[in-house]
Amino acid sequence: MCSTSARIISGNALAQTVREDVALRVQALTQRGIRPGLTVVLVGDDPASHVYVRNKAIACEKAGIKSDVIRLEEQTSEHDLLSLISRLNSDETVDGILVQLPLPSHLDEHKVIETISPSKDVDGFHISNAGLLMTGKPLFRPCTPYGIMKMLESEQINLRGAEAVVVGASNIVGKPMAMLLLAAGATVTLCNSKTRDLAAQTRRADVLVAAVGRPNMITADMIKPGAVVIDVGINRLETGKLAGDVDFAGALGVAGAITPVPGGVGPMTIAMLLVNTLEAAERRAAQS
Ligand code: GUN
Repeated sequence: MCSTSARIISGNALAQTVREDVALRVQALTQRGIRPGLTVVLVGDDPASHVYVRNKAIACEKAGIKSDVIRLEEQTSEHDLLSLISRLNSDETVDGILVQLPLPSHLDEHKVIETISPSKDVDGFHISNAGLLMTGKPLFRPCTPYGIMKMLESEQINLRGAEAVVVGASNIVGKPMAMLLLAAGATVTLCNSKTRDLAAQTRRADVLVAAVGRPNMITADMIKPGAVVIDVGINRLETGKLAGDVDFAGALGVAGAITPVPGGVGPMTIAMLLVNTLEAAERRAAQS
């Protein structure tokens, strides 16, 4: 039996606080005649994407942000999708454009993302935004890593000089996460599927971020006692239950603090999308 139990970091509670703050700022902007607007483009029938998009739209409405969801059929041509994005780029009532990923395989994800105007790229995926983040002058930070930084800040985790290990090197989470942790003064190790002896890396981590998409792959023996463990995984098990990338029950006895799944990183991702959309609208207001 383990006598210690990790503190559980509630993404739900912090997301609620962020959303209330966003709602107040949206109200102030709307009173000045500028209502923030987000357009989400969803191509195809991926069931998980439909759920994510619906949750994003509901969160927008609750915060007073105008949200439009454009659903396109699976067979939509690249030409039609790029034309739609160009039209949204020049629509003044649209502050943020989000194309839900993954896209059907006949569409070139890079080409699609690079067509979004960097000033409306609330996902922060455009190469221009990735470059700004890398050089320390971010415009939009990708929502999931941005939300994780907010959680670490709210937990008053000192990142200066800390050993941070990120498992998973995707453009959406792992790579921008590494950049944000580095900017905060952490020594960052970014692991990928080829990493030799992953456990040797993760065991060094004061802050461990798991973003792989494989249920329960981070086990208790891979965690340094007292570490802060951030679980980005949202994996649907055959039983229908959701599981993170971390064996939560096992990790509870070793970690100092841990995010649950669900109710951890997920709600923060949506909250930061609202922040990014609001800030795009605030920049529009400053120019008008
Ligand atoms: N698919 C999974 N996560 C994301 C995200 O943060 N943004 C977009 N556009 N698609 C995703």
